[in-house]
Amino acid sequence: MKSSEKTPLFNLNTWSVDQLARVEQALSRWVVCPEDAPALAGLGHAMRYAVLDGGKRLRPLLVMAACEAVAGSANAALRAACAVELIHAYSLVHDDLPCMDNDVLRRGKPTVHVAFGQASALLAGDALQALAFELLTPALDTTDAAIDSATQAHLCRMLAQAAGFKGMAGGQAIDLASVGKQLNSSELHEMHALKTGALLKASVMMGAACSQSGPATSIAVQDALRNYGDAIGLAFQVVDDILDVTADSAVLGKTAGKDAAQDKPTFVSLMGLQASQDYAQQLLQRTLHSLAQLEAAGLPNTHALRGLADMLVNRQH
Ligand code: IPE
Ligand code: IPE
Ligand code: MG
Ligand code: MG
Ligand code: MG
Repeated sequence: MKSSEKTPLFNLNTWSVDQLARVEQALSRWVVCPEDAPALAGLGHAMRYAVLDGGKRLRPLLVMAACEAVAGSANAALRAACAVELIHAYSLVHDDLPCMDNDVLRRGKPTVHVAFGQASALLAGDALQALAFELLTPALDTTDAAIDSATQAHLCRMLAQAAGFKGMAGGQAIDLASVGKQLNSSELHEMHALKTGALLKASVMMGAACSQSGPATSIAVQDALRNYGDAIGLAFQVVDDILDVTADSAVLGKTAGKDAAQDKPTFVSLMGLQASQDYAQQLLQRTLHSLAQLEAAGLPNTHALRGLADMLVNRQH
């Protein structure tokens, strides 16, 4: 490029609109086609209700951004992005059940168990979880199935680990067992890293796994991505805890003030509001530092990862 030519400025909004259009279309196609939804006592309706028309789609955006940073396969990333969102949507359906957080509002709508009943909510969550892994292992005659089997297995393993015992489900178990207790800082960090951080970090690592060659596989790149994923995962839940106190239900699309009402340990209850806000900004600096490491390791296309970190920490809902 001649020095007089300027690199076009990256615009997160334009980039996100583009990515989200693909993700929304794919989710609508893959989460039970509308003709099949009424079958099986309407289970498909509950699944579509849980996933479509709502949600910020931060995890799919992180997958797509990490894939771009490593110049990976866009088809593989789209499947990974949707698979992560399905696990997230299932975790929300179960998180809202009366036996967990007992919430009635999610993504601006009545929760799945309020709209469809508890048994359907439980089953819709189960079926969404299974569908996530089906998406990562497309049938050989699928038109976009060109993900080699080693990558498929790797993506499945990363997602299973992030969702399971040492990931989201384990973190949720700690969350429920901690009601009414004040955890210390390291216990709270562990809970957040598992219940929320694991899936956000997996989004980054799965996006990066969509390239299985070149610099993406170097130790320095993998370390930088892991550091970014750790910091962004933690920052996300710190901000979720802050917004539970500072935002209102109409803006959040879910019931505000629930953490204090249910006596949950959060960063705000541990360190107070101002210190939590400062901590979120410190974590943002950590994500930016990790991106500098990524650039130094030979991957300069970090614009989307940078923009998402800023958006995620400074979001209002
Ligand atoms: C909310 O996640 C639940 C947590 C993991 C804290 P999001 O804030 O990403 O929820 P949606 O997907 O936008 O509804
Ligand atoms: C939920 O955490 C985390 C998962 C769904 C795994 P929260 O209980 O804090 O999420 P919200 O605030 O209800 O969205
Ligand atoms: Mg919860
Ligand atoms: Mg909850
Ligand atoms: Mg919360």
